[in-house]
Parts: sequence; structure tokens; C-alpha cells
Amino acid sequence: MTPPVIVTGAAGFIGMHVAERLLQRGESVIGVDDFNPYYDPMLKAARAVRLDAYPGFRMVRLDIAQASDFQQLVRECGAVRVAHLAAQAGVRYSIENPFAYERSNLAGHLSVMEACRHQPGFEHLVYASSSSVYGDRPESGAGFCEDDAAAEPVSLYAATKRACELMSFSYAKLYGIPQTGLRFFTVYGPWGRPDMAYFSFTQKILAGEPIEVFGQGQMARDFTYIDDIVDGVIGALDRPPERGDNRILNIGDSAPVGLMDMIAVLERALGQSAEKVFRPMQPGDVTRTYADISRLKALSGYQPKISLEVGLPWFVDWYREFYGPASA
Ligand SMILES: NC(=O)c1ccc[n+]([C@@H]2O[C@H](COP(=O)([O-])OP(=O)(O)OC[C@H]3O[C@@H](n4cnc5c(N)ncnc54)[C@H](O)[C@@H]3O)[C@@H](O)[C@H]2O)c1
Repeated sequence: MTPPVIVTGAAGFIGMHVAERLLQRGESVIGVDDFNPYYDPMLKAARAVRLDAYPGFRMVRLDIAQASDFQQLVRECGAVRVAHLAAQAGVRYSIENPFAYERSNLAGHLSVMEACRHQPGFEHLVYASSSSVYGDRPESGAGFCEDDAAAEPVSLYAATKRACELMSFSYAKLYGIPQTGLRFFTVYGPWGRPDMAYFSFTQKILAGEPIEVFGQGQMARDFTYIDDIVDGVIGALDRPPERGDNRILNIGDSAPVGLMDMIAVLERALGQSAEKVFRPMQPGDVTRTYADISRLKALSGYQPKISLEVGLPWFVDWYREFYGPASA
């Protein structure tokens, strides 16, 4: 029997979707999550309930930074593939609570790599990095490429994600573990993260409250629909690099959308217009993101299919269904 795939952060947004796709194709999956209260734990619990409907799924409630417990889990279940998506996410929260990033992102990533290196026959560790590692590049008209310098992170969150890539590089060289670091570009969609702008704007617009538009509305993001992200994650997971390689790949839509355009799409989907309060850019934020996705395309045929005009209304449909008529 094929050993299970471990998905860390399985009660999280991307983790749940990746775990579900693996289950749908008949894999067994062990999800790991500590269900921390960074955002509404009820949403995390509901995602776990969704995964529990699959007989091939088991959730283990565990802090990945507990190295010996995580290592024991990997040993006992015999996993040789790990999709490591658990992290303390969010740029702005890293100003409020920096130590959460030290624990989940640095100690957590080290713990996951240690478990993989001690696992006989280990095949592939795929882990989440972020477009934020590129720093603030307002002038650049072209897509960000994996070979571009990523040496000037403007938030602690970005610095920890870059640190994970470098730690992985050393573990690939030292112990041969084949690894892929995926630099995600602004992922959105059903079951998304309440701390992200499109989600909190939806809550506020429906409640008739004003929305705060940072960067005076001048920011742009390479919004990437969750199903496209899952295609890319699974495509990479199925194609491990050579032993000793730590491959870094962008995973985005490669079509940046301005913040004001995103708000306009959201207003149309909600059938309501937003009262906007314009604010300066917040510390740690970057002006724009734009993924060059040619490497992932060449590797797996990755091709994002869902534009924001299509995907954001699907998020709104999910939101209305999940939060019920009171949200409408
Ligand atoms: N969503 C995006 O736009 C985006 C963009 C760039 C990078 N990423 C990265 O992708 C990954 C998944 O992001 P997401 O949007 O699904 O975030 P998420 O917060 O919804 O999911 C992360 C999950 O990890 C869990 N977790 C955190 N610390 C843990 C720990 N110490 N032990 C066990 N579980 C822990 C959380 O409880 C959460 O359920 C993260 O690594 C994030 O940094 C996401």
C-alpha cells in the first residue's frame, strides 16, 4: 500500500484544498494542524470536518515545532512525501506578534526537515514560501523570476519565508532531501483566510461598514485562484527534483490586478458598493506582486485557468452559503 501523504496546515486554507485533492485521487492523507486562534478556529474546525468525510483522512492536532512528536508521527505512518503548508501567515501580524513566526515558520520548518531526513526512503518535501520574499519592487514592470535577488524582505514574515528556503537549501545539500519551495502569490477562493483583504472587505461590505483601502488604492496583486494553486502544488509534488536539490518555483496567476479593480469585481459580485476610506501603505506591505511562472509551466504544464472576475464571485457564493442568510 502507498504510504500516506502528510499535509501540514491541513485545517488551513491551502492545506485543506491540497489534502482534499489528494484524497479525491485515492491517496490517504494525514493532516497536521495546531488549530491556533490566529483567525476564527471555527473555520479551521469546519475545514477539518469537511476532510473527515473522506475515509482516507486522519487529522492529528499537533504543533509542528514539537520536533520529537512530529518525527514520531512521520516514522509511525511511514510517509515519504510531505506537503508542508503550516505556517504563521500574514504580513501585518508579524509586527504585532513576531515570536509566532519564529516558532511556526523557523522552528516548525526545521522540525519538518529533521523528520524528513530521518525517514528512510524519503521522496519529496514540498513547502510553502511566498511572493513576499521578493521585497518591495514598485519600479519593475516584468514578472518576478526565481533568479531575481530575494535579499531584502520588508516584513519579518517575508524574512522567515526566505529563511525557510535557505534552510532547505542547506538540508538538501547536507542530507540529500529532494525539496520544492513554492512561492505562492496571493491565493484566494472558497474557504479562504479571513485576514486577507478580499475576505475582510466582503464581511465589511455586507455589514454596511466602510473598508480601509491601504496604499491609497495604488497596490496590485497577482491574485491566484485556489484550484489553480492546488494544480500547481500537486503537479510539483508528483515531480520531485534530484536528490540534493532544493528547487524554488513561483506559483501565481501571472496577471496582476489593481486593488481598486479587485474591489470593483467584489462590489459587482456582492451587488453592493463599498464605502472606501483611503489610507497610506502599511509597514511591511509591498506595492505590487507579479509572478513569472515559466518554470512551473515547463515542469508540470501548470496553466492558471480562473481569472479574478470568475473566481471572486465563486468566493462570494461560498461565503454566503457558509455564513448563511444573515451575511446576505
Ligand atoms: N494564502 C496566501 O495567499 C499565501 C501566500 C503566500 C504564502 N502562503 C503560505 O502558504 C501556506 C498556507 O497558507 P494559508 O493561506 O492556507 O494559511 P492558513 O493560516 O489558512 O493555514 C496555515 C495553517 O497552519 C496551521 N499552523 C500554524 N502554525 C502551526 C504550527 N506551529 N503547528 C501546526 N499547525 C500550524 C494553522 O492553524 C493553519 O490552519 C503558509 O505557509 C503561508 O505562509 C500563503
